[in-house]
Amino acid sequence: MVEPDQPSTARMIDFWLGGEHHHAVDVAAARAFEQAYGPCAPVFRSLRAFLGRAVRAIAATGVDSFLVFGAGVPTMGNVHESAPEATVLYTDVDPVTIRLGQRLLAGSDRAGYGFGDATDIGTIDPALLHRFVPGWGRRPVGVVFLGLAAFLADDVLARTLDELYTATAPGSHLAIDFDTEELAGYPEALAMMGPAFRMRAPATFGSLLGRWTPTSEGIVAVRHWRPARPVEPVPDAFYGAVAVRSTG
Ligand SMILES: C[S@@+](CC[C@H](N)C(=O)[O-])C[C@H]1O[C@@H](n2cnc3c(N)ncnc32)[C@H](O)[C@@H]1O
Repeated sequence: MVEPDQPSTARMIDFWLGGEHHHAVDVAAARAFEQAYGPCAPVFRSLRAFLGRAVRAIAATGVDSFLVFGAGVPTMGNVHESAPEATVLYTDVDPVTIRLGQRLLAGSDRAGYGFGDATDIGTIDPALLHRFVPGWGRRPVGVVFLGLAAFLADDVLARTLDELYTATAPGSHLAIDFDTEELAGYPEALAMMGPAFRMRAPATFGSLLGRWTPTSEGIVAVRHWRPARPVEPVPDAFYGAVAVRSTG
């Protein structure tokens, strides 16, 4: 692969997770961020562990296909590895990330990767959608929306989640996270996230979910969502939930 000249948050996360699909430019950006914030690997391990628990919980309801938005690098305990019996379509808007994902999943008949703007599900190739998320709109599916809400304004996020609710069948589940205001304690690190980055107070997040109903665990720090024991001692940078599209 050609050496990218810009870092990507997806590959920085791969670096923090101990993966193999990042470049010098990503490591440099990750280290600069850690200079301003502190160690990130435990925080992202905790977030990825939440993904695993959420995906397994959704699969346990009988869901056997997943649509992933803002998917990043599809390795290190990602969705198809957490629910190996399911079919999974990963999507992202970044062409370099999409090419990497397609290369990593080449040869898989259960997981694929394509373009998809989360704010417009019509941008997803229908052939890919029907291949990896069969019965879309007619059968319950899992929608994974992690690492993405922080980059969408409230009105865009609320509209997007409402459109996903309308598009999915009853019994579908949404796994979602958002960034708390914890990063505000590290102004230099916050500045590195750019002007489009949004932190949110947990109390404000429920209304953005609209018609999606959180499971009984509610909207909590990701390490406290059906926690692994012992609970990881990490800063609560991310809150998350699994929410359900009601039947009927
Ligand atoms: C912080 S990374 C998270 C990657 C992955 N979900 C994870 O948790 O490791 C955010 C990803 O969202 C993608 N992204 C940004 N805006 C998007 C949009 N409107 N629709 C889909 N993906 C988007 C970026 O290209 C990037 O790969």
